[in-house]
Formats: sequence, structure tokens, C-alpha cells
Amino acid sequence: MYLVQDASFLAPEIKMIRLEAPRIAKHQQAGQFVIVRVHEQGERIPLTIADSDASTITLIVQGVGKTTRLLNQLQAGDAILDVVGPLGRPSEIQLYGRTLVIGGGVGSAIAWPLAVALKAAGNEVVVVIGAKTQRFVILEKELTQACDQLFVMTDDGSYGEQGLVTDKLRELIHSQSPWNYVMAIGPIPMMKAVAETTRPAGIPTTASLNPIMIDGTGMCGGCRVLVGGETRFACVDGPEFDAHLVDFDVLAQRNKLYRQQEQAALQEPPERTAAALSQTHPCRLSELTSNLPSSSKGE
Ligand SMILES: Cc1cc2nc3c(=O)[nH]c(=O)nc-3n(C[C@H](O)[C@H](O)[C@H](O)COP(=O)(O)OP(=O)(O)OC[C@H]3O[C@@H](n4cnc5c(N)ncnc54)[C@H](O)[C@@H]3O)c2cc1C
Ligand code: FES
Repeated sequence: MYLVQDASFLAPEIKMIRLEAPRIAKHQQAGQFVIVRVHEQGERIPLTIADSDASTITLIVQGVGKTTRLLNQLQAGDAILDVVGPLGRPSEIQLYGRTLVIGGGVGSAIAWPLAVALKAAGNEVVVVIGAKTQRFVILEKELTQACDQLFVMTDDGSYGEQGLVTDKLRELIHSQSPWNYVMAIGPIPMMKAVAETTRPAGIPTTASLNPIMIDGTGMCGGCRVLVGGETRFACVDGPEFDAHLVDFDVLAQRNKLYRQQEQAALQEPPERTAAALSQTHPCRLSELTSNLPSSSKGE
């Protein structure tokens, strides 16, 4: 069991969850993720490690379906059954020079550790984040601290500048080149648009892909993506790939494969969270861990 230390909403349906997981916290690097299962009957879903300290990892979860909405019910003191990780290849952090990190929606959660790592490696880091409206802008303070310059774009202009992240990207490419490296993290159409914007300018561009994942170990083939005409498994070969080589249309098609089942799952009666399940169980987590030395808890 993994104890939730803190949980709070950053925006409607977007929750930050800080989990006690010292082993994962110790080993994780920017770009890596975990696969979580909330309770025994739960499905396994991948979530990026947005931040960590000596004993905790932070996840930022957007409630889009059954499991993410269940996760968004968690409060401090609740627990998650399984957290496997760190998984995936860490981001390739090098001294590129002038770098741009583009985050769309909850992709800003993934942009955050990347901006921190790129800055720590000595790069000049400019971040552009996009959201539907002001209410959905997340991590502005954290990203401002992590980078040299931050631009916020909103679809309706209610905060920052009106427009898409690619509008700002285009402007920056034309007004401030050269850019040595671009990272894109967000919805599939956004990452595709970023790739098409940087391609003519010849700027090396990486995208953090989000295919459906199951085991996260390269065994099930669920996360296969087409990159440069070759099949790659995002969980072990990625999740980051050369954005100019990714077939984003195939990725979008594959992510729709289970739409019917996902819709059906949402119609089911509301599921109990891990906390509710533990209340019906005779040995509650708090009772189990209360007598243990602190180093044994949470892992
Ligand atoms: C490596 C990786 C890292 C990720 N990191 C984060 C993160 O930090 N925060 C976060 O909120 N989400 C992240 N995701 C996406 C997250 O895993 C999905 O939103 C989640 O699996 C949906 O599960 P569900 O049961 O709530 O929704 P479902 O009912 O399974 O799906 C609901 C909707 O979400 C879409 N969806 C399902 N799986 C994915 C997916 N893997 N990626 C994108 N859309 C999906 C479906 O097409 C559907 O429209 C990540 C995905 C990957 C592959
Ligand atoms: S999730 Fe099974 S191979 Fe990647």
C-alpha cells in the first residue's frame, strides 16, 4: 500500500497527489512514469512522476475516465494498492543550448520535471503552456521558478495570451531563433502540430507519447507506436521519441480502440476508493503501519 500524504485540486478535475514511495523517489529521473492500480479490481494506468523528494513522489492526475476520476477522490491518509516504477527511459537531458518546452493541458505536469532537468544541465529554458481557460492553468508558479521565461496561452484569452501553444511557438521561432531543441508534451493533436511547426525550421523535437499501456514492461504490446516506420513500445523504448518520426495518426487511432468499453465503465455504479475499501477490511493501513519504524512505511 502506498499512503497518500497530500492531495489537492490544482484545477477542475486535475489533482496533485503526493504519495509515500521512498524507493521510487530515490531512483526516478525526469521523463519516467509509474503504473498505478488503486485497488484489487482496478485497472492499471500510467502516470508521470511530476516531482519527488527523499520519500515521496508527486502525481498530477486529470480525471478523464473511470480510474483517473477514482484517483481524484483520494484524500490525505488514503492509500493506493500498487505503484510500479520508475518505468520508461529517462528523458535525454543534455546541454542543447536554447531549449523550448511546450506543455498542453495536463502535459504541463510532465513539462515541469523536464524544465527543471534541462535547466540543471545548463540550458536556457523557455516554457510555453496552454490551457482552455484561466481555471485550467496549472503549475505556473513552479514552472516560472524552473525556467528562464514562461508564456501562458489560453484558448479564450482569459489569462496570459489568447491562442494556441503553437501560435507562440511559431512566433518564437520567427522572432528569437536559433532554438536548439524543443520538447512537446500534451494532447496528440498538439504534439503533432508542434512537430509540423518545428519540422520546416529543422529544430530537433521530442514528444512524450501517451499510448494506452497495460503492463509497462514491454511484454503485452499494448503501447506499440509507429516511429520512423518501425514499431516501438512506448513503455520501454519511450515514452519520448523523435517527434518528426512519430506517426501521430496511428497513435490517435489506437487510443480510441477501447472507447466503447471506457464509456461502459463510466456508466457503472460509482466505485469505492481504496480508502473506502480499506474501511471494510479488518486490518486498516493506519493500524498496520502505526507500530512500524518510519523507514518501513509506504513501500
Ligand atoms: C507514459 C504516460 C504518462 C502519463 N502521464 C499522465 C499524467 O501525468 N497525468 C495524467 O492525468 N494522465 C497521464 N497519462 C494518461 C493517463 O494514463 C490516462 O488518462 C488514463 O490511463 C486514463 O484512464 P481512465 O480509466 O481514467 O480513463 P479511460 O476510461 O481508460 O479513458 C478515458 C479517456 O482517456 C483517454 N485515454 C485513455 N488512456 C489514455 C492514455 N494513456 N493517454 C491519453 N489518453 C488516454 C481515452 O481515449 C478516453 O478518451 C499518461 C499516459 C502515459 C502513457
Ligand atoms: S505497456 Fe505492454 S508493452 Fe508497453
